[in-house]
Amino acid sequence: MFDLPVLNAPAQEASLYAPSDAATQDQAARKLYVETYGCHMNASDSEIVKGVMHSNGYAMTDKPDDADVILLNTCAIRDNAEKKIHERLKHLKFYKRRRQDLVIGVLGCMAERMREELVIQKNIVDLVIGPDEYRTLPALVEKAFQGEKGIAVKLSRVETYDDIEPLRTEGISAWIAIMRGCDKFCTFCVVPFTRGRERSRAAHLIVDETKRLWDAGFKEVSLLGQNVNSYHDDVAGTDFADLLRATARAVPEMRIRYTTSHPYDMSDKLIETMAEFDNICKYVHLPVQSGSDRVLQAMNRDYTVEHYKERLRKIKELMPGCALTTDIIVGFPTETEEEHHMTLELMREIRYDGAFMFKYSPRERTKAWKMEDDVPEETKTRRLNEIIEQQQRIATEINQALIGTIEKVLVEGEGRRDATKWKGRTDTNKFVMFPHLTDEASGKTAGYVVGDIVSIRITKATSMTLVGEIVA
Ligand code: SAH
Ligand code: SF4
Ligand code: F3S
Repeated sequence: MFDLPVLNAPAQEASLYAPSDAATQDQAARKLYVETYGCHMNASDSEIVKGVMHSNGYAMTDKPDDADVILLNTCAIRDNAEKKIHERLKHLKFYKRRRQDLVIGVLGCMAERMREELVIQKNIVDLVIGPDEYRTLPALVEKAFQGEKGIAVKLSRVETYDDIEPLRTEGISAWIAIMRGCDKFCTFCVVPFTRGRERSRAAHLIVDETKRLWDAGFKEVSLLGQNVNSYHDDVAGTDFADLLRATARAVPEMRIRYTTSHPYDMSDKLIETMAEFDNICKYVHLPVQSGSDRVLQAMNRDYTVEHYKERLRKIKELMPGCALTTDIIVGFPTETEEEHHMTLELMREIRYDGAFMFKYSPRERTKAWKMEDDVPEETKTRRLNEIIEQQQRIATEINQALIGTIEKVLVEGEGRRDATKWKGRTDTNKFVMFPHLTDEASGKTAGYVVGDIVSIRITKATSMTLVGEIVA
């Protein structure tokens, strides 16, 4: 779930999609800065947080130096994710020294576990608020300005923030959280503990939101959930494939993506729905985690390698050009060298377009926490390097085979480093750079703007990026 850049997403005011209310006009409004770590779900939650605060009179800033309130939306998925937050908090202590009245809050997946440590021991943080308690933010921030510390970390069985308008940053791509929490309880994973039980939003509200986004100028939406295949609107009797179909029909020119699927319940119906609609992107992120049935069972993943491969056969049968990415964990407790080689072998056989690869990191409260973390660190590192190296080689080969082909690219805007190069994404979620054509006389963009879909002939390729030129 880490394919789109989510870290430190700019928090400037959204002109296209800001909820309009009196507070927007208040020039003296307090300023909020939100820094986001972790997955797309957190990025989407940060927009909900900004929506809540914006309608309570706060202005947004993308500079922590200008902020009256700094919120870190945290991730607890692996130890290094948590370490990053601790480092950041140490740094924020200096801000606090400079400005006594600055309010600092910790949100998201570290909230529950870190509440005591953060508020009581470290004295840096004024607020700790978990993923289901963002409605309490304005009141708790207000109290924090009066010097009162606030903690709200209860998880809910029903909260979906259905009525909150997320404050989206101006752009062409939007996230829509369609569900919250996770009931899968993979033995390595902390998410069911940090985000609580699974619950889905009403389908008609998601379809309406997509329509409004189209009217506001967005060209692409990503429907988000930890396990979208379990999505269910109990009132309407709608499953995820139905939702996808309804969304694709309602906004036929919107590019529609989704993430993440769980291989156990990736249904034929879902694959058939993807194949049926041109505007549903031909890209599937299907985390496999390991190439060994024994390890998969120890992870409580509920599927076998054969079941997984059979799902991929169905995907490729109906959508031959569909891109595939995955997540892999190396060094899960008891993983043998032979089992590691099974993972390498599976990755060679499937030939993923991309993979997010991790060393196993023990997480408190999970089942695997009670198992001995018995794969030595240097073995984990070596195994990780082996899969990364192999994957890079495969992805480079796959991408280089695209040289000479013409891809439809959704134009996202200037490249980060070089304004003469523009960037965009293919339907299959591949990142493409291309020289920006300007009309010499007027200096204006020749023929296309951000949000257009252009044809690009691919001329170069690496494991992560395609380079090409516009086809007239
Ligand atoms: N809900 C998504 C995954 C969310 S977490 C899914 O099921 O696909 C994203 C990825 O982080 C997981 O797929 C897994 O590969 C990795 N991950 C989760 N917990 C981990 C841990 N304790 N150590 C290492 N990697 C982990
Ligand atoms: Fe974690 Fe498994 Fe749920 Fe994904 S499906 S969030 S890996 S428990
Ligand atoms: Fe996402 Fe990290 Fe939480 S991956 S769900 S922000 S633990």
